[in-house]
Amino acid sequence: MQPTVTNSDSGTSTVTDWDPDRYAQHARFVSDYGRSLIDWLQPQPGERILDLGCGDGVLTATLKDLGCRVVGVDASARQVDAARRKGLTALVCNGEDLPFSRQFDAVFSNAALHWMRRPDAVLAGVSRSLKSKGRFVAEFGGAGNVAAITNALRQSLKTRGYNFEQLSPWYFPEPEEYGQKLKGAGFDILAIEKYPRPTPLPSDIIGWLETFAQSFTIGWSPADRTALFSDVREQLRPQLCSAEGQWTADYVRLRFVAVKQK
Ligand code: BEZ
Repeated sequence: MQPTVTNSDSGTSTVTDWDPDRYAQHARFVSDYGRSLIDWLQPQPGERILDLGCGDGVLTATLKDLGCRVVGVDASARQVDAARRKGLTALVCNGEDLPFSRQFDAVFSNAALHWMRRPDAVLAGVSRSLKSKGRFVAEFGGAGNVAAITNALRQSLKTRGYNFEQLSPWYFPEPEEYGQKLKGAGFDILAIEKYPRPTPLPSDIIGWLETFAQSFTIGWSPADRTALFSDVREQLRPQLCSAEGQWTADYVRLRFVAVKQK
């Protein structure tokens, strides 16, 4: 399978090949959990909304069904195709280089910002995209997100001579750090919170690793990738797998509502 350059569960600066079928099988929970973020957005019929890192467009479609005029953007052409097949307006676009100017009432983003390693560039683009007093409502991984998984990956990569930090595509900030960035980009913060959200997985942790951690093994042989992920699984089994075989990922979310000052 050909890697595509950049994006999220999707939006950016790493190499992940988002296969919509694999995503639907191993990651449908991402949009299922994202529905509660729509309550934070309080979308009004007729509002123009940008869905940043729209993936295959499940939440974009929900916003459209609520009467919003919504545009989805994602760095993955395959995910954008999947969104368009749902009848949505969607564009291939790097979240760190948004091309819009003062045209949206709100920017909405679920489970995408942690793939964007240049948050200041993202925030400058979001601010440019919004009208005066426009809302930015988002949820993504906060500090400590998937800590057990990252520790196991770090250890297994290290024994093979690789450095986790150099390879990691993920950005998981503390609310204080991200809040400062929001203020620096001209936003007032109405709410910001970090909370643990242990997330039962629909399959074995290998399915999660193959979906979300593939960029650590770009260029590896299938045998080496399988060996790495098997090592990681055995490290994680005591912490993340129940006696009944249910895997649960140690997610920590950061969510916020911010308003562009002018
Ligand atoms: C997350 O949604 O928190 C996440 C997704 C993929 C990799 C790491 C974290």
